[in-house]
Amino acid sequence: MTTRGWHPGSWREKPIRQVPEYPDEAKLSAMEARIARFPPLVFAGEARRLKQHLALAARGEAIVLQGGDCAEGFADFTANIIRDQFRVLLQMAVVLTFGGGLPVVKLGRMAGQFAKPRSSDVETRGGVTLPSYRGDIINGPEFTPEARTPDPARMETAYMQSAATLNLLRAFATGGYADLHRVHRWNLGFVANSPLAERYQDLATRIDESLRFLSACGMGDVPQVRETEFYTSHESLLLPYEQALTRIDSTTGDWYACSAHFLWIGDRTRQPDGAHVEFLRGVRNPIGLKVGPTATADELLRLTDILNPANEPGRLTLISRMGAGKIGALLPPLIRALAKAGRNVVWLCDPMHGNTVKAANDYKTRSFDAILSEVRSFFDIHAAEGTYAAGVHVEMTGQDVTECLGGAHCLTEADLSANYATFCDPRLNASQALELAFLVAEELKARRPEAAPRVAAQ
Ligand code: PEP
Ligand code: CO
Repeated sequence: MTTRGWHPGSWREKPIRQVPEYPDEAKLSAMEARIARFPPLVFAGEARRLKQHLALAARGEAIVLQGGDCAEGFADFTANIIRDQFRVLLQMAVVLTFGGGLPVVKLGRMAGQFAKPRSSDVETRGGVTLPSYRGDIINGPEFTPEARTPDPARMETAYMQSAATLNLLRAFATGGYADLHRVHRWNLGFVANSPLAERYQDLATRIDESLRFLSACGMGDVPQVRETEFYTSHESLLLPYEQALTRIDSTTGDWYACSAHFLWIGDRTRQPDGAHVEFLRGVRNPIGLKVGPTATADELLRLTDILNPANEPGRLTLISRMGAGKIGALLPPLIRALAKAGRNVVWLCDPMHGNTVKAANDYKTRSFDAILSEVRSFFDIHAAEGTYAAGVHVEMTGQDVTECLGGAHCLTEADLSANYATFCDPRLNASQALELAFLVAEELKARRPEAAPRVAAQ
């Protein structure tokens, strides 16, 4: 079934923002045609399954953990980097499952998160102006005219890197790495020396005991313990690439974007009559929409109409990214308007993108306190509105980077230069990510129905 007036290229008839200027149109078209012949990276049935899990989250019956790099890079394409990212996400997920007492939907910003929206089309350094870096699928980060010129050949490299990353993630998810019996071993690496290690080991020991108990009862060897489900996601920004990977699912006849299970629309490209909204309205994947400080209730109602006309639960996830200082004033009216109109949405908190600041030494950074504060407010607001805070969307890495301030290691501005490795925005390092998971777990636990104070029976 095709959505009215939509086809995979209908976005080309709409106004578009954040487009790279490719110098050679013929080369671009040839690459689009080439990628259109490549196999899809995901199967539509997987995207439908994810949508069902997200539908549970919309009803408060599952938690969503979406996380990964701000921008993946061609230079960071190693097994260890992929494994470490996956491992921290697994650790965070067990912490959340334990605290929240609910299944956790694991959604990596991985295997395709290569395109970045930028606040300026150009960058000037020492009197020289060049196009801004837009992510490795478009151009290179080095400040040279060659690197900064958009090159369609990069799409093929991004596709190949996505395919190999996804292959390894699938192997980890089902091949034994994610077996819950290994919960202690996920803690190897530098997190083992962090103040969080003891807390994590304590939780892992409790999980071990539960597994021994289940095993003694004859229930220890089920696939749910041995394997996990892991999904991929990225911002649907580079539409020529996304269109080339949009395919009809032979089992249903519906269109699916097959570059990842879940795609989202960024805060800068969510114009209701714009190209990015047009593209995602016609594919049947579960999709996301970033909701920043300029979003209005009317606009969100219009966008939910366009993107989820059937009001299907699990189809649309709204990712709030207001900033710690603004969320209290800006989010409640939006939640209220959607709840009043009966719109089924999953609400996630992205506590990263509204909290970016410049340190005195010019590093782009984020304070862990601001991040925690926005997450806490998000939970408080949903509790007050009687709606579900379904989870978090974070920029993080399994590496021991020094990009965000604070956390249990009390990172300072002077520490930022030690290992500032991001291609774009500052990420939580592995121990900060784990610390955040413990905080969210506490919020979830405090709000579990059985945790509510009981009124004594008369
Ligand atoms: C991002 O998620 O990396 C991003 C650019 O976010 P936003 O669209 O919310 O600014
Ligand atoms: Co970012």
